[in-house]
Amino acid sequence: MTPGGGLRRRQVLTVAAAGLVAGCSDPPPSAARATAGDPLATAPPAHAVVASYRLPGGDVHAVADLLRQITGRADAAGAGAEVLIGLGATLFDRAGLPAQRPRQLTAMPSFPGDVLDPGRTHGDLLLQAGAGTAEAAERLLATVAGPLTPQWRVAGFRDGAGTSPAGHPTATNPFHFTEGHGNPDAALIPAVVRVGGTEPAWAAGGTYQVVRVIRLATQMWDRDPVEEQERVFGRRRDGTWLDGTAAAQDPPFARDPDGAVTPLDAHVRLARGTGPRPEMLRRGYSFRAEGEEGMLFLAYQRDLERGFAGVQRRLAGERLARYVLTVGGGYFFVPPAGWTGALFPR
Ligand code: HEM
Repeated sequence: MTPGGGLRRRQVLTVAAAGLVAGCSDPPPSAARATAGDPLATAPPAHAVVASYRLPGGDVHAVADLLRQITGRADAAGAGAEVLIGLGATLFDRAGLPAQRPRQLTAMPSFPGDVLDPGRTHGDLLLQAGAGTAEAAERLLATVAGPLTPQWRVAGFRDGAGTSPAGHPTATNPFHFTEGHGNPDAALIPAVVRVGGTEPAWAAGGTYQVVRVIRLATQMWDRDPVEEQERVFGRRRDGTWLDGTAAAQDPPFARDPDGAVTPLDAHVRLARGTGPRPEMLRRGYSFRAEGEEGMLFLAYQRDLERGFAGVQRRLAGERLARYVLTVGGGYFFVPPAGWTGALFPR
């Protein structure tokens, strides 16, 4: 089930579509519309497909026309669906608009331990279609993409979806652990994910989307005792901290400086770090296809360094590393709700 129904769908499509249609004469968004009820603050749909496309070369008008068609089709999607449209750095070059590229939008770098397959990495455009069933998500993607053929795609699902004691949407990953506890509270999400005025004017209120296609060694993982698995993550399966502190409480690391209870290289301990809290919203999915199991890691943030990239660098050499392998993904930018700037001229 996708909470929020039609309203949620409209908001998401506004985020996704409005900014792309050039010269559009809609009224500017009010402050309330831009911040209240951020669609990313709601529980992710149970199923989602992400698909990455290379757009045909051509001038800015050809790119603009194609995007207009895509956003038009997105608007025809059924209630309860979620569509996000992510723009890759190469799109701005292809459209001859490098100065309009969001400041931090580059090709996703390769981080230590990554083995990026070029056939599953980057893209001019990323479509993310979410719905209550796998079939509905696929139908939605087919509708929005029209005749475009993806370079790569991943279909994901959220098992055991629920809500944490702190009110965060949660799901169970293929390693049987609950994800979502460490996400920001809903009220903080707009401040964490939405970029501000340091970006090209059209981009303010949008968000940087990080996609990581991560293979998981589930058979190897399942041979380890649960106690060791908990030490790898630094939380118990249900999110409780390893010394018994409740999931919604702050981590007890200060009482354990040498890592006797929570190893210093545990995932959550490294991810959290010792400075300011990571500023990112994780909304990941599990996937299983062609003998592979993994995580479709999806994260949204206003600043890649305070969010994904800073955390990812800290995770180098983590205890989890021997069980995971990142093989693809990319950096994308999802335009703001109600954006009406003329990025792509008619
Ligand atoms: C397959 C890979 C991954 C798995 C299975 C995984 C799993 C988990 C689990 C079980 C938690 C604890 C519950 C929670 O707070 O959600 C967690 C927390 C977290 N993870 Fe991951 N994760 C993975 C990859 C990543 C990556 C790539 C990043 C970012 C670079 C990341 C960043 C975080 C952060 C920021 C937290 C919360 C830390 C806090 O409490 O402040 N994770 N992850």
